[in-house]
Amino acid sequence: GEDGYDLWLRYRPLEAGLQARYGRAATELVATGRSATVEAAAAELERGLSGLLGRPLPRTARIGKDGAILLGTPASTPAIAAMKLPLDRVGAEGFVIRSTRIGGRDVIVIAANQDIGLLYGAFRLLRLVQTGAAPEGLDIVDAPKAKLRLLNHWDNLDRTVERGYAGFSLWDWHKLPDYLDPRYTDYARANASIGINGTVLTNVNANAEVLTAPYLEKVKALAGVFRPYGIRVYLTARFSAPIEIGGLKTADPLDPAVRAWWRAKADEIYRTIPDFGGFLVKANSEGQPGPQDYKRNHADGANMLADAVKPHGGVVMWRAFVYAADNREDRAKQAYSEFKPLDGHFRDNVIVQVKNGAIDFQPREPFHPLFGAMPKTPLVMEFQITKEYLGFATHLAYLGTMWEEVLRADTGHGGTVARVVDGSLHHYPVSGLAGVANIGNDRNWTGSHFDQANWYAFGRLAWDPDASARTIAADWARMTFSNEDGFVRPTVDVMMASHQAVVDYMTPLGLHHLMATGHHYGPGPWVNDLGRPDWNPTYYHRADAQGIGFDRTRSGSDAVSQYAPSVARIFADPKRVPEDLLLWFHHLPWDHRMASGRSLWDELVLRYGRGVAEVRRMRATWESLRPFVDPRRHADVAAFLRIQEKEAIWWRDASVAYFRSINRLPLPPGAPEPA
Ligand code: GCU
Repeated sequence: GEDGYDLWLRYRPLEAGLQARYGRAATELVATGRSATVEAAAAELERGLSGLLGRPLPRTARIGKDGAILLGTPASTPAIAAMKLPLDRVGAEGFVIRSTRIGGRDVIVIAANQDIGLLYGAFRLLRLVQTGAAPEGLDIVDAPKAKLRLLNHWDNLDRTVERGYAGFSLWDWHKLPDYLDPRYTDYARANASIGINGTVLTNVNANAEVLTAPYLEKVKALAGVFRPYGIRVYLTARFSAPIEIGGLKTADPLDPAVRAWWRAKADEIYRTIPDFGGFLVKANSEGQPGPQDYKRNHADGANMLADAVKPHGGVVMWRAFVYAADNREDRAKQAYSEFKPLDGHFRDNVIVQVKNGAIDFQPREPFHPLFGAMPKTPLVMEFQITKEYLGFATHLAYLGTMWEEVLRADTGHGGTVARVVDGSLHHYPVSGLAGVANIGNDRNWTGSHFDQANWYAFGRLAWDPDASARTIAADWARMTFSNEDGFVRPTVDVMMASHQAVVDYMTPLGLHHLMATGHHYGPGPWVNDLGRPDWNPTYYHRADAQGIGFDRTRSGSDAVSQYAPSVARIFADPKRVPEDLLLWFHHLPWDHRMASGRSLWDELVLRYGRGVAEVRRMRATWESLRPFVDPRRHADVAAFLRIQEKEAIWWRDASVAYFRSINRLPLPPGAPEPA
């Protein structure tokens, strides 16, 4: 209802004109398959179309009238086997939707090779109806481009969620396995509707306990709920688990007893959950145990786990998010330095999972230099859906544009980042995208209505990394709020401008890691006294009386040389690097001339002001949309936008005042005096 629980699957009645059009096109449902997945697809069509069209959608055994929807695979449905459909193009998960005639009746066919394709096809047809697409002449052939489309939950067994801003974990470990909260099914429906096909249930900062028999029973129960929806479960594996729950003295990956322990553990897991996806591992990063504790490298650790799950068809996703306290190298360089030399040394069921940028989910980062640089090692993209560095749940920041920017970046190695992670550039056998979930047990799932759009957009981009952020935003706005153009256009404009607004009022022009300590909420560019230098904002902005920015060219850390030469040349040149990344790569004098003709200092101050101005515009636009939105959700969003405006001003004033205290320069004309 108005609490946001239904996400983009609201299925409220369409306006009368559209109802009449669809009324003729969706009169009955024929689904002959009998699997739980077919049942889920049929149930969703019944629920969705009856809601949207305002009358029941009867399920019949055979096509009886015009407007039937026929759902089936060639194996389950002879009429579909008899049709000439391009099913050879859609693989195991894709589908075909086609308007056609069968036995003299008008029919919409949803066909697939496997039942999961039918479920995806059913959700696609629902999306078409929800967004008011014409019901006639349907001819859609679609399949996901990336094999792995995963959520990563940073959920702890005590139900706290690391970097979670939407309440506690959905996984009610205490009541599992006997009580299955109906919400687990709604979670699976929502994910299947956007093509998510796997979920890592536990935090990367892992607790070995989840690998013990009692917890595996609970995981099995969740897997049973998710299975009909095509969602496999994965777990994080704590590298020291053989010591903590196995009673061994070591976790050395080359120790035969350790290897045998993991093999037996994998066997036990697969006896319990035969379609278990595999492990996600954070090792030797931010204090987590790992192979380097035994003077082994990341490949030694990953390969040991890969060997354990290999007989069962499992994968190991080994994270490249590593940087060490005792390493003096620019933090932005460390993952590449450690992993690039290991290309070709991993088993074929190891996938290295790489964050979109080389620091840590900053509001804007250049794409990670490992993309394109690991032709022999499949890579998974790790995006962060939860907004750790982008204002938590209250600030409105649509991340579709940020992810689109990363996916479309040319690696200089023969293709874009999208071509790397969909596996096509280097012919990876398996690869994909993972998103750190923003989901919790808040009634609206994500802590704010607009953060639902980021969950939604992640799924859509994982399915199709070439999809347009604007199209996704429009679909989401239509399904979640209103199909009226007077609502959709301004709302999409707000969403499309929102990420840049946050960048402008937090970290403009390529600045990064300026957030307050620990929680990362609010400004802290002055912080200079943390135990580790690479946690101090001053390490990143390097502002002094003369200038600002991190020199990552040859005269500095030379991080640019980790990129392909064609890309490195652009990033290394302060005249050619995109201004949005300028201070990521360059340390420049305050009077450096910008493209606008202004000095760097004036431009920086203006960007901070621009961010605040944009939030004010967002607020005004939302105010004007009151007639289109139910009062509760309108008020919720309006209240959060008020918070965002207040805090954008906080960011601007604190940051500008701090930098002025260092450079002693006057404010440019027109800049607001701090409040
Ligand atoms: C960030 C985040 C941590 C998280 C880490 C990771 O540093 O602040 O909470 O554990 O990323 O991705 O491993």
